[in-house]
Amino acid sequence: LSLKPFNTFGIDKKAQFFTAAHTINELKEALIWAKERDLPIFILGGGSNILLTKDILGLVIKVELQGIEVIHEDENQVLVEVGAGVVWHEWVLYSLEKNWAGIENLSLIPGTVGASPMQNIGAYGVEIKDVFHSLKALNRNTLAIETFDAVDCKFGYRESVFKHESKDQYIITSVCFKLLKIPEFHVEYGAIQDVLKEKGVSELSIKAVSEAVIAIRQSKLPDPKQLGNAGSFFKNPTIPVSQFENLKNKYPTIPGYMVPEGIKIPAGWLIEQSGWKGKRLGEVGVHAKQALVLVNYGEGTGEQIKNLSEQVRATVRDQFGIELNPEVNFI
Ligand code: EPU
Repeated sequence: LSLKPFNTFGIDKKAQFFTAAHTINELKEALIWAKERDLPIFILGGGSNILLTKDILGLVIKVELQGIEVIHEDENQVLVEVGAGVVWHEWVLYSLEKNWAGIENLSLIPGTVGASPMQNIGAYGVEIKDVFHSLKALNRNTLAIETFDAVDCKFGYRESVFKHESKDQYIITSVCFKLLKIPEFHVEYGAIQDVLKEKGVSELSIKAVSEAVIAIRQSKLPDPKQLGNAGSFFKNPTIPVSQFENLKNKYPTIPGYMVPEGIKIPAGWLIEQSGWKGKRLGEVGVHAKQALVLVNYGEGTGEQIKNLSEQVRATVRDQFGIELNPEVNFI
């Protein structure tokens, strides 16, 4: 089966075996089926953060667990358990309809709810860890459901325990979010302020914030249905303050902001300065409106994207002495 419709880069690689799991039982059955045949398994959510460079041997399981359920509610907040297979943005729209605040800044992020804690998705000043209560995951060895709280998940910038110690050991089946009935707005981000002003929004609402975020994303980030991509391809690197000072002498406009580990630099700026923005190499390229996004013009392969990403890395390394690390998972 071709995985082209199942990854937002639109890469045409195949799965040896493929199944969709709509219930936890179907998920367990699939795991047992693969184990009996000694086949490796690969868990697929929305396919919005992977780069397929080869066919997948073994069983690909698409997690389709649905459901949105309130598990606790009081006058201030609501705890909602959401199935791993729910499309992230559909969950955001649902929360807006119910007037539950907390994930409006995370509007329009591609992918599924189950994938969201894996890399602690974030945008415009909010990360999923800020609204996270707990998650349930199926232990691939014992087939027991285990609960993880925020501490167990070890969230970091685009990081969690599921990319490290617990990699390939669990399948997230649902995520429980803690949302507010009285919103706390996060509109410090300059671009959000600009759009709100432009639209003449005088009274903030979660709907208005969501619409502003959608407008910003649509202006910079290509729609995967029209142009294959996986959002930011690299993480924003953090460098020591001394290195930043040196670079600032040479590049006075270099942006950067303080984080506990040093200075975080927007990778998009580094890539733009290195001359790659809008460049095309055959069927793949660097997006013209946001240099952090690599795109597939249609017939590009995973190898070509990988090769392009290595060239971009090398140029940035040579020019700035900064190593860019991919945010996207290479398969
Ligand atoms: N910039 C450039 N040229 C570019 C792109 C960016 O100079 O072509 C510089 C500008 O200085 C700009 C700054 O980078 O002000 C920040 O750009 P932007 O607001 O687009 O954010 P980002 O740092 O490039 C991060 C996340 C995005 C998230 C946005 C908004 C990462 C790896 N990416 O991008 O997340 O939507 O902030 O919060 O942290 C994703 O993870 O897939 C993703 C899209």
